[in-house]
Parts: sequence; C-alpha cells; structure tokens
Amino acid sequence: MRRAVCPGSFDPVTNGHLDIVERASRLFDEVIIGVLINHSKTGLFTIEERLEMLSEATAAYTNVRVAAFHGLLVDFCRAQGAAVVIKGLRAVSDFDYELQMAQMNIGLSGVETLFMPTNPLYSFLSSSLVKDVVKWGGDASAYVPDFVGERLAARLKQN
Ligand code: PNS
Repeated sequence: MRRAVCPGSFDPVTNGHLDIVERASRLFDEVIIGVLINHSKTGLFTIEERLEMLSEATAAYTNVRVAAFHGLLVDFCRAQGAAVVIKGLRAVSDFDYELQMAQMNIGLSGVETLFMPTNPLYSFLSSSLVKDVVKWGGDASAYVPDFVGERLAARLKQN
C-alpha cells in the first residue's frame, strides 16, 4: 500500500491544507495527516481540537486519517508505514527551509518528500493570517471551512 504523510501544526486547518490533502488522497492509497505535538509552542487549539477539526473537514475522503505525533517526522512516517511526505509549497520563500528539511529527512531515514504547488487561490494563506483576520472581525469564510471559522471566532472571543 502506498502511504503518504501530510505533516503540520494545523492550528487550525485551512482550505490551503485541505486542498493539498485532497490532491494527495488521489495520488496515494492512504494519506495520514500528522499533527505535530510541540511542547515548546502553545497553540490556539489543543491537539485534540485540531485532530477533531481535521477529521470533520476530511470526513468525505475515505482514505485519509489523522494522527498526532511528537519527535521526528521520519519516526512517525516509519511507525505509519509511509515512505513519502507531502508538502505544499506556497511560494519560493517556502522552498529554502522545506528543501533543508526534505534533505535532512531523506538523510535520516530515506523518507522522500514530494512538493506540491499550492492552489494559487491559497498561495498567501496561513493559519496565522486567518487567526489575525478573525481576531479583528474580518471575513475568513473563503479560507477555512465554516465550522472552523465558527470555532475560531468563539475561541478568539474568549481570549
Ligand atoms: O505546519 P508547520 O508548523 O509548518 O509544520 C512543520 C513540521 C511539523 C512539518 C516540521 O516542524 C516537522 O517536521 N517537525 C517534526 C520534527 C522533525 O522531524 N524535525 C526535523 C525535520 S528536518
């Protein structure tokens, strides 16, 4: 079975992430969305909340599942039986760091990274920008699923 991992923080998932996951799901038998547990960075949403939102947003894709991981991405890939990591590239500015990580990952374990050009509709999009827009009352409905927008608004109102 050809499996791929789509890793990230997903705090929260955006339509840009979903575009990559959906396209990857057509190329691989199974896609595992790997949510990084980063103890040194507090997110807006807990890992459980991020997994929940990702599960809901990808419910229509029968070959996509979600899981959390900590430590090295290559160890997570090995545990999942995935030989490939899929990364979306939004712009050339993403490339430098992504290339370094891809080369480190192949050196560490032979896990390949495939870069997928982001849909131009989302080439400027990031979870951080969406959080800022919603925080200040802007309309982010084109950039996240409706239920994610509602959860964002509710969470940011509390903060
Ligand atoms: O959504 P993000 O925060 O840009 O995702 C970054 C992520 C999770 C892909 C990256 O930080 C990662 O792979 N972290 C796991 C730790 C690791 O394997 N580090 C060495 C990579 S060369």
